[in-house]
Amino acid sequence: MGWSVLLSVLYAVQLVTSQEYLLPGDIRPTHYDVKVVYDIDPTTNFSFYGLVDIAITAVKSTSKIVLHAQDLVISNGGIRIIGQTDELRVTASKLNDTYNLFTIELDRELRRNQSYLLTIPFSGNLKPGLNGVYISSYVSKETKIKEYLIATQFEAIYARKGFPCFDEPMYKATYTITIGHHRDFTAVSNMPLVTSSNENELESYWRWEQISKTFSKSKSLFVWDSFEKSVPMSTYLVAFVVSKFSYVDSPPMLSTTKFRIWARSDAINQAAYAAEVGPKVLTYFEKWFNVSFPLPKQDMVAIPDFSAGAMENWGLITYRETALLYDKTQSSFLNKERVAEVIAHELAHQWFGNLVTMKWWSDLWLNEGFATFMASLGVAEVEPTWRADRNYAVDNILSVLTLDSLESSHPVSVPIDDPKRISEVFDEISYRKGSTLIRMMTMFLGEEIFKKALHNYLVKYSYQNAEQDDLWRELTAVSQEYGGLARNVSVKEVMDTWTTQTGYPLLTVSRDYSQNSLTVTQKRYLALNSRSPTTSSWWVPLRVLCASDAQDSNEPIEWLAANEGVTTEHRFEHGADPDEWVLFNADMIAPYRVNYDKGNWELLIAALNSKHTSVPVLARVQLLSDAFALAWTNQLDYNIALQLANYLKRESEYLPLSTGLKALAKIENVIKRTPDYGAFQKFVRKLIGETYFKAGGLATKKIINGDDLNSVKLQTATSAWACRMKVPGCEENAIELFRSWMETDNPDENNPIPLDLRRTVYCVAVSRGSVLQWRFVLARKQRANVAAARDALLHALTCTREVWILTQYLEWAITDETEVRRQDAAAVIVSVTHSTVGYYVAREFIYNRIQDIYNAFNSEGRRLGGIIKALLEQFTTQRELDEFLKWRENNSKYLEDAKLSVNQAIEKATVNIAWLNKNRRSVVERLRELSK
Ligand SMILES: *[C@@H]1O[C@H](CO)[C@@H](O)[C@H](O)[C@H]1NC(C)=O
Ligand SMILES: *[C@@H]1O[C@H](CO)[C@@H](O)[C@H](O)[C@H]1NC(C)=O
Ligand SMILES: *[C@@H]1O[C@H](CO)[C@@H](O)[C@H](O)[C@H]1NC(C)=O
Ligand SMILES: *[C@@H]1O[C@H](CO)[C@@H](O)[C@H](O)[C@H]1NC(C)=O
Ligand SMILES: *[C@@H]1O[C@H](CO)[C@@H](O)[C@H](O)[C@H]1NC(C)=O
Ligand SMILES: *[C@@H]1O[C@H](CO)[C@@H](O)[C@H](O)[C@H]1NC(C)=O
Ligand SMILES: [Zn+2]
Repeated sequence: MGWSVLLSVLYAVQLVTSQEYLLPGDIRPTHYDVKVVYDIDPTTNFSFYGLVDIAITAVKSTSKIVLHAQDLVISNGGIRIIGQTDELRVTASKLNDTYNLFTIELDRELRRNQSYLLTIPFSGNLKPGLNGVYISSYVSKETKIKEYLIATQFEAIYARKGFPCFDEPMYKATYTITIGHHRDFTAVSNMPLVTSSNENELESYWRWEQISKTFSKSKSLFVWDSFEKSVPMSTYLVAFVVSKFSYVDSPPMLSTTKFRIWARSDAINQAAYAAEVGPKVLTYFEKWFNVSFPLPKQDMVAIPDFSAGAMENWGLITYRETALLYDKTQSSFLNKERVAEVIAHELAHQWFGNLVTMKWWSDLWLNEGFATFMASLGVAEVEPTWRADRNYAVDNILSVLTLDSLESSHPVSVPIDDPKRISEVFDEISYRKGSTLIRMMTMFLGEEIFKKALHNYLVKYSYQNAEQDDLWRELTAVSQEYGGLARNVSVKEVMDTWTTQTGYPLLTVSRDYSQNSLTVTQKRYLALNSRSPTTSSWWVPLRVLCASDAQDSNEPIEWLAANEGVTTEHRFEHGADPDEWVLFNADMIAPYRVNYDKGNWELLIAALNSKHTSVPVLARVQLLSDAFALAWTNQLDYNIALQLANYLKRESEYLPLSTGLKALAKIENVIKRTPDYGAFQKFVRKLIGETYFKAGGLATKKIINGDDLNSVKLQTATSAWACRMKVPGCEENAIELFRSWMETDNPDENNPIPLDLRRTVYCVAVSRGSVLQWRFVLARKQRANVAAARDALLHALTCTREVWILTQYLEWAITDETEVRRQDAAAVIVSVTHSTVGYYVAREFIYNRIQDIYNAFNSEGRRLGGIIKALLEQFTTQRELDEFLKWRENNSKYLEDAKLSVNQAIEKATVNIAWLNKNRRSVVERLRELSK
């Protein structure tokens, strides 16, 4: 059985009723033979006909077969079930849409341990949407004709829309796939093509006379592509794409696996970067895991309409165009970084997720956490100057520290009792906390031990499923070979405190300056500090630095045990003199915050303000993040946080500077609609003015040094802030740059605005401009052939202050066949919600049109949740929150699949409101004093 410990404990009470959403488990599929023919033609409503033969084994004797199907017309009369000696009779079959369960009843029992062949014919019409087998389209530049393609997105629960199947990750089987399609199209699937024939492969059930009634073309125009039998895999990894795309091959010497990158013919020249990065990263992972990639080929396809960023289907990875395609003259450096990161992430999944799969979605973090972590290593390997290993780790930790400080956060290993809510778990906790905890393990175990244990885990569970305890066992075993962890603690003991509990600890350190010692306590850090403390506690890895050994990164790791520092203080000795600072978590090993006594904070402030480089970079990040968070929850005086931030005037590293700015953005978020915003802007202008000019600013002449990610990011971030904070000249420069673009002869080919500054420049110009600028941007968007460029323009359109235009734009976002593709709808609505005037427009829109928004997202809870979050995290008054809560009473049915996000959003709003009541006046006073 596939339950993590936590899950069975929580569900013990209502075990019987709570598992009705699962398949009964008495039948196991071993092989699927899937044959489907699609008419990829809007005039015939995209009809399809299919037949699936499933080889099954009865684990227990049963007279019922239960599997999944959704949006399929199943020809009940055609269902057959054949045993080794005879055929059974189907007495009834019915579909229940609650959990998409299709039940077939038989005239007698299937015998235990016997194999049968189950045949189910099905047909239907593809519907609009971004999951299951779905339709995407684009307009060819040359012919101006709208071309269609079909693609699949089966994760998490949509394989059942493709063909009847046992659609849970535990039911691994092999697949033989045959796709029939018009001969102008090309089909690709997980495995290589074996044969392409003109013979109708469905003829054992469907006759062509029947099919041809709804098809637009004659039989002779169809081809049948059959693909090699796959390795055993979960249903959610099955994939195919049928399109008129072109492809490029990767340079052959980079990998023994044959790579092809597919895209619209108009965009195929943007595939070169992916063609180079893909095989390099794959080869690197094969070495790192010491497990070779088991498939002969890897196709990667850029789909014009795509729900997520990308999908790791085994051997056929599908991407949104922005995540795979890169154009030197149109994409920014950040776009390039994203392409590398997403490719590495998806390739890491080929091991974590595809080869070894979680038993149930509760352990999704095993997939996503590993892919996220390995992506940072993969990118660091192919683009070493980017420091991806360090930079992504910081991004991940900081975002975990924010979300996981809410009571309404959730544990990494999370119970899921309704498959419709799986979508919501694809969140920062699974991806980023998962990744952060894995990085933490590499640091306390050592990379060598970690790699060895992973190798064992991957080999032992190949083509099977695993849960987190299986991983802990392998890690403990290897660690013990090497002498074990300090204090003889097991990996499971440590990790359970991090993966089964929500949140993370705040350590409070107080020094005894005469004894060279300090004491530590731990308790959960919560954004609403007034709430009663919880009883959670953690095994916390500690590495303590002091001023005199700041450059030595080899201090051993010590542990604060889960029972230590909870009710009493825990005492440590250390070697720091009274006039030296001490510092915890200097390399951000784990997600926790640290508070110090006032004396130590003052020593740290003095060090930063005299020579900030004497404190390591990641330590500066941690200090800034902690100081502002603790001040936010009134556990530290704002004077300390703001004095610490004062050193940022001289900070030239992107990581600490952006951390400080993000912390300030939290304050900005709650006072930007108050009379105090001016004081805030003045303070920030003083802080970043000089760095902005030094980094290059928005000056037309200064060209960004394209190889140095730190400078690019510094210039991009400081420019955006400088314009928002009204640094003199910033907006004027932006408007001037934009004007020169509008006056260019062929603006679609010639854009004088530096690539990495385009988002800022566009947004300033549209926001300060009129309908003229807006229309210009819209026209450029319509002609954009590079998705990343189109994205920047799409975003710029949300920056206008014209209420009627914003209303129109929001309308487009939820309407088919408009300027906004369904895949971009949520991003557009969120972006409008975040803009100055747009906030008010979006609020009304969400309240009045929730039903249409809900329908537009087609039960993707995650998208709707993101929109509600964007709205509520900007609430600053109880009146706004009350209004929402009242509205929710009558609209809760639309928010069902976004419960988690809605609760988090409400908590965020509550936190903001409490902060303003308590801190607004005093903080604004300090900002005024400090910017005198
Ligand atoms: C469908 O399944 C649900 C959940 O198991 C159940 O409550 C409902 O009664 C079923 N509906 C029908 C028509 O059987
Ligand atoms: C069924 O197969 C399993 C594994 O192959 C075996 O252990 C078990 O004894 C078999 N049971 C019966 C009733 O044949
Ligand atoms: C097209 O398919 C949809 C969805 O199955 C259906 O509702 C509609 O009636 C069909 N239209 C035509 C013209 O067949
Ligand atoms: C790779 O794995 C093989 C088989 O498990 C093992 O014999 C070999 O030592 C491993 N290589 C490295 C470098 O760890
Ligand atoms: C370490 O822990 C293991 C398992 O709990 C135990 O068998 C062993 O004796 C311990 N070793 C030491 C040195 O305490
Ligand atoms: C909720 O719906 C009821 C019935 O339609 C209506 O009477 C009531 O005014 C609504 N409440 C709000 C807050 O809209
Ligand atoms: Zn992933």
